[in-house]
Amino acid sequence: MNILIERKGRVVVVQLNRPKALNALNSQVMCEMVTTLQKLDHDPEIGCFVITGSEKAFAAGADIKEMESKSYIEMVQEDFFAGWDGFTSLRTPKIAAVSGYALGGGCELAMMCDMIFAAETAMFGQPEIKLGVIPGIGGSQRLTKLVGKAKAMDMILTGRMMNAEEAERSGLVARVVPTERLMEETIEAAEIIANYSKPVTMVAREAVDRALELGLKEGILFERRTFHALFAIEDQKEGMRAFIEKRKPSFKGK
Ligand code: CAA
Repeated sequence: MNILIERKGRVVVVQLNRPKALNALNSQVMCEMVTTLQKLDHDPEIGCFVITGSEKAFAAGADIKEMESKSYIEMVQEDFFAGWDGFTSLRTPKIAAVSGYALGGGCELAMMCDMIFAAETAMFGQPEIKLGVIPGIGGSQRLTKLVGKAKAMDMILTGRMMNAEEAERSGLVARVVPTERLMEETIEAAEIIANYSKPVTMVAREAVDRALELGLKEGILFERRTFHALFAIEDQKEGMRAFIEKRKPSFKGK
């Protein structure tokens, strides 16, 4: 297996496991990740995914050795990288826990998660320009939406790396934590999310994603209609009743 899966209560931790290739993302990694997570996505007992790598590398990019000799027609016929759409369409919240290099496809995988927690050692970059190509798993689009045109152009045109502190300052990263605390703090946050109502966390992340895709008026309408719809679920009654009764809510995911 190119990925290791560990279940911790309602959280599933997926660790990329190609240490000799600094977790380069080949087709097998993509296939294993997407098929495994698609099954778990529908499990009401699983409330959050954590995606991580090793201390040295979250992932050093798409696998250059796998791509290098491909022709244009092969790339088009295989619709190379399109399989990652299966990852972005997962509805369970996903946190990337990044230590070390998150380059090219690695940075793109982190950005496909709902948020990124970075160790102080994390280094982000889209160095594809150095290989005679451009980002291919959404980097030119997502990085620009997340950090703005100025930083995205700087990263993509020069191929330079951004450290964790700059990444947090730029809006790419939600939290920077000491390296030895990365997994602990990420899993703590994942558990908090996983213990809320899953139908609610699923639509909360969809609503935030709409902000990147829609105009303000349409986005607000999506949010308002989704907010209204949540009054059809038991967890809304439980959450509000628990507040009034000054007790902890017990969400059932319905
Ligand atoms: N693909 C395939 N193999 C990779 C790889 C990648 N993206 N990144 C690292 N490796 C391999 C190396 O080839 C090396 O293998 P060998 O021992 O067999 O030679 C092994 O991992 C260790 O790498 P290094 O010896 O280079 O390690 P280092 O510590 O000296 O350097 C690094 C680390 C700076 C991350 C360097 O490995 C590097 O620059 N990697 C490539 C980064 C990159 O260009 N990423 C973008 C890929 S293209 C892409 O992702 C397209 C897209 O948009 C989807």
